[in-house]
Amino acid sequence: MSEKSVVPSRFLFYLMIVSTFLLILSSLFLLQFSNHSFIPRSVFKLILVNNTSVYFTPNFKSEQNKTYPFSSEDLQSHAQRPMRSRDFICPFSNSSQKMVSLGKQRKIVCDPTQALLRVFMYDLPPEFHFGLLGWKGRVNETWPNVNNPNRIPQYPGGLNLQHSMEYWLTLDLLSSNTENVVRPCSAIRVENSSQADVLFVPFFSSLSYNRHSKLHGKEKVSVNKMLQDKLVQFLMGRREWKLLGGRDHLIVAHHPNSMLDARKKLGSAMFVLADFGRYPVEIANIQKDIVAPYRHLTRTIPRAESAPFEKRPTLVYFQGAIYRKDGGVIRQELYYLLKDQEDVHFAFGNIKGNGINRASQGMALSKFCLNIAGDTPSSNRLFDAIVSHCVPVIISDEIELPFEDILDYSEFCLFVRATDAVKNGYLLNLLRSIKRDKWTKMWERLQDIVQHFEYQYPSQPGDAVDMIWKAVSQKISSTRFNFHRKNRYHRSELVVKSI
Ligand SMILES: *[C@@H]1O[C@H](CO)[C@@H](O)[C@H](O)[C@H]1NC(C)=O
Ligand SMILES: *[C@@H]1O[C@H](CO)[C@@H](O)[C@H](O)[C@H]1NC(C)=O
Ligand SMILES: *[C@@H]1O[C@H](CO)[C@@H](O)[C@H](O)[C@H]1NC(C)=O
Ligand SMILES: *[C@@H]1O[C@H](CO)[C@@H](O)[C@H](O)[C@H]1NC(C)=O
Ligand SMILES: *[C@@H]1O[C@H](CO)[C@@H](O)[C@H](O)[C@H]1NC(C)=O
Ligand SMILES: *[C@@H]1O[C@H](CO)[C@@H](O)[C@H](O)[C@H]1NC(C)=O
Repeated sequence: MSEKSVVPSRFLFYLMIVSTFLLILSSLFLLQFSNHSFIPRSVFKLILVNNTSVYFTPNFKSEQNKTYPFSSEDLQSHAQRPMRSRDFICPFSNSSQKMVSLGKQRKIVCDPTQALLRVFMYDLPPEFHFGLLGWKGRVNETWPNVNNPNRIPQYPGGLNLQHSMEYWLTLDLLSSNTENVVRPCSAIRVENSSQADVLFVPFFSSLSYNRHSKLHGKEKVSVNKMLQDKLVQFLMGRREWKLLGGRDHLIVAHHPNSMLDARKKLGSAMFVLADFGRYPVEIANIQKDIVAPYRHLTRTIPRAESAPFEKRPTLVYFQGAIYRKDGGVIRQELYYLLKDQEDVHFAFGNIKGNGINRASQGMALSKFCLNIAGDTPSSNRLFDAIVSHCVPVIISDEIELPFEDILDYSEFCLFVRATDAVKNGYLLNLLRSIKRDKWTKMWERLQDIVQHFEYQYPSQPGDAVDMIWKAVSQKISSTRFNFHRKNRYHRSELVVKSI
């Protein structure tokens, strides 16, 4: 090594030591003087709460200066920031008593004044949510106890799971008031709806569609329709709904056929959807609604097991139904273009039972996985490809993707226009031109972003549940912005009329 490079690195080393020292000094200083006015008190309060489940209802004055992180880096750093003791508040003690039993294992609930999103959840009767899972609470018990993750009611498996976000979101809200569940503090359930940013409607609409849309016995209407009718009636009668005409309500309708009877009447609300394929634009659109990932059906490949370029013999993989309505014609055209290529797996047939395992293996041994528009622009196949680290090739012009404000899909997916994909030779030439280095970059990026597509309980920073709350938080502030702007003249006109 030459002299020149040694000197600056030694200098850097000293600089690091000095700055570390300063950092330690300044954090000690902050801890000692945190009740002084130059630091906002809200930032340095602590939680020392009894182990009963509690709601906070502090006053929310300090929220006015709350900033929503808007850039993707902000969001990520917020998500990944470890919880530090000084981020919690103590509602029952003043600063002279704080810090006390931090060392001991204290149970901690999130502080709503610090949360990205305060959520009010209607206490709908269990028939709308956990009752659909067969859960029976005691008399007047609305929610299961979520303290013990091993004892919460299970969501049905199989294909139902694709649309299970209704369940994960509800569980996450329930656990936000429970001290012994450790989860990110992005969304907090609040008891008072006027202190909420958004009002969550806990209806398991996809499960209701999957399980209860058929008539049984002498029923005149299906359970699915009956629940939707009841829900519309309930919401329309609520003061909370009338306040903003439902715009600040969050309804999960991930299965493309869920909420079919109620979607028109509740169309002003914010929906959590798979895509917009079966919605008229005035009922659902990207301005007000959230696209959530499907829950993947194939298994997440651990990093260490993920096959690199050389160990994926199949160039491109597709398994799915061939004859689809609407946009699905392109599947047939591609089939005739690709079927005779030796390193291509292009087969028809729905994945069921063991089919899921086979698809899982197939994707894990393929370099590229096709996502072709079916009867809706999206499908769980994209998310199966992502968790298999098989670079997705998206051929679906109308698709909307989850979390696209944070994720740049072009870093780990290829997009091909449908008109190009059906040109003879176009697709294979494109895929064969992507060599090891470029592919490996995308493969590595896939491994980094997989976590954003995992649904789990308890939720973890940056997982799908956490990401959905962040998306809701952004969307709700622009919804309010638009609503308030429209009110500018509207309100004074009302006053004039009443004179
Ligand atoms: C906490 O628990 C103690 C006894 O366990 C009780 O005296 C006190 O009132 C409780 N505080 C709150 C806020 O529940
Ligand atoms: C808090 O938990 C401890 C054991 O963890 C228990 O002995 C105590 O009674 C609980 N206190 C309250 C107020 O629930
Ligand atoms: C918000 O910030 C502004 C200026 O930064 C300050 O004047 C105002 O007092 C703050 N409001 C609250 C509630 O802290
Ligand atoms: C803390 O509380 C005690 C009594 O509970 C009170 O005497 C003291 O002034 C309080 N300190 C501050 C900084 O508010
Ligand atoms: C259930 O709620 C009803 C109405 O709120 C009340 O009259 C009844 O006593 C409650 N039953 C139990 C067992 O708490
Ligand atoms: C809910 O919050 C509002 C505004 O902060 C307050 O006026 C109202 O009294 C609260 N309601 C309850 C039941 O605490």
